[in-house]
Amino acid sequence: MGLFKRFVSQTRKPEGFLGKVMLSGMNSGHAAMADWGISHLPPMTPEKAVDLGCGGGRNAGELLKKYPKAHVTAIDYSELSVEKAKVFNQAAIAEGKCEVRQGNVSNLHLPDCSFDLATAFETVYFWPGLDRCFGQIVRILKPGGIFMICNESDGEDDTGKKYEGIIDGMKCYTAEQLETALKSSGFSEVTGDHHPSKPWITIIARK
Ligand SMILES: C[S@@+](CC[C@H](N)C(=O)[O-])C[C@H]1O[C@@H](n2cnc3c(N)ncnc32)[C@H](O)[C@@H]1O
Repeated sequence: MGLFKRFVSQTRKPEGFLGKVMLSGMNSGHAAMADWGISHLPPMTPEKAVDLGCGGGRNAGELLKKYPKAHVTAIDYSELSVEKAKVFNQAAIAEGKCEVRQGNVSNLHLPDCSFDLATAFETVYFWPGLDRCFGQIVRILKPGGIFMICNESDGEDDTGKKYEGIIDGMKCYTAEQLETALKSSGFSEVTGDHHPSKPWITIIARK
């Protein structure tokens, strides 16, 4: 495998030296898109939020800033992402406001009906089956809980298609595909937005 493919494949599950390099740029690289996504969240005061596929942990930190009364759990199946997210959120962890755990979205070891908000930034491309993973999110959300997906590919852009061809197992979904999968997994209200000038999409679903 060429170095470029090995490097960009670290977005799927950061590991080893290249994974560390990838993670060092991930927090800043996704910040503008993540903030755009977060700006779509409806007014709410969550007690418990979870960021799924948290990477370097910056977006869990943003949730903690936006919702100072909330406890935020950050989950990733990459040991390196978990380490990085723990360092990034160490003050909030020390205060008991944040927890970072290793885990796979397809089999979440989290209790039923326990979260008000779940977020997924730049990660659903890699999940092993949307129906199975979305089913887990329906399970852990409280009734009326919100799930937000934010992607920098709308499934039709050239960059997304390029990386889909390079990174094994990556799938760039259209907003319509995500909305259909969310509804079939049990979400009741599903709305989406497309950035006016970039191929960014955000989808908000309510349980
Ligand atoms: C491109 S990174 C995005 C990280 C972060 N959300 C951000 O926006 O900067 C994708 C992350 O999702 C994680 N991931 C992918 N599939 C996962 C799964 N099935 N369960 C948990 N984490 C997953 C990867 O390990 C990686 O850290």
